[in-house]
Amino acid sequence: MGWGMKNRLARIFNQNSGKTVMLAVDHGYFQGPTTGLKQPRETITPLLPYSDCLFVTRGVLRNCVSPATNTPIFLRVSGGPSVLGELSNEDIITSMKEALRLNAAGVGISIFVGEKNEDRTISNLGKVVNEAEEYGMPVLAITAVGKEMARDARYLGLACRIAAEIGAHMVKTYYCEEDFDKVVEGCPVPIVIAGGKKIPEREALQMAYNAISKGAAGVDMGRNIFQSEAPAAMVQAVRAVVHENYTVNEAFELFNQLKGKKAVSSVVE
Ligand code: 5RP
Repeated sequence: MGWGMKNRLARIFNQNSGKTVMLAVDHGYFQGPTTGLKQPRETITPLLPYSDCLFVTRGVLRNCVSPATNTPIFLRVSGGPSVLGELSNEDIITSMKEALRLNAAGVGISIFVGEKNEDRTISNLGKVVNEAEEYGMPVLAITAVGKEMARDARYLGLACRIAAEIGAHMVKTYYCEEDFDKVVEGCPVPIVIAGGKKIPEREALQMAYNAISKGAAGVDMGRNIFQSEAPAAMVQAVRAVVHENYTVNEAFELFNQLKGKKAVSSVVE
């Protein structure tokens, strides 16, 4: 692995804990103005200081994120269909040159294992990895997004392993209660979990705690942070679980303590 790739990965993963809290705000690329992201800049700006990196599309990055931010950027490079169409019908929509121009620390692409366009999306991952290797750019493969997915360990294990075999440097998937440790064991690259639909804060913290205990390298969480009643408090509570080994009770207590307080004003507006 070259210096550039190592440096980018070192910016994404906290050097003390070895883990990462990524903030996912890319939902609009197929869902439009999602609840909590109707005004992306308002949502994102106060959360940037607490995020190890921001997972975002180029459109929101250019228009709604200050170029003065020090938070590393993970750029979504796949897309195509909307929520009204066939979700697996994705292609590569943002070039590697663009990712480099935007000073991305990594790029992310979805694969749709078991869905209509499984083969094309997996081959797209291969193409992105081929180019990314030339420039030292880490690639995150996003698995198991689909309308009808049975998100059990067997399916998640299959999808994550395929992503790693094709060359992804990191994989994002969902947490499953049963045998998540086996999903992690079967995947030779770090796994981060997506949060999924909004659930009560304590349950989301429990999910993050369970995932970390079973070997996840962090979270790439969106709705359970930005749709929280107190997003800045929630991202800090998630950080406490991921980076500081807080128990769920401790992290929930932290959330409750912080939720009444105003978030620190971000240095970048
Ligand atoms: C959708 C994505 C999202 O970034 C991912 O689902 C994470 O967000 P959430 O925690 O809201 O599920 O990649 O394709």
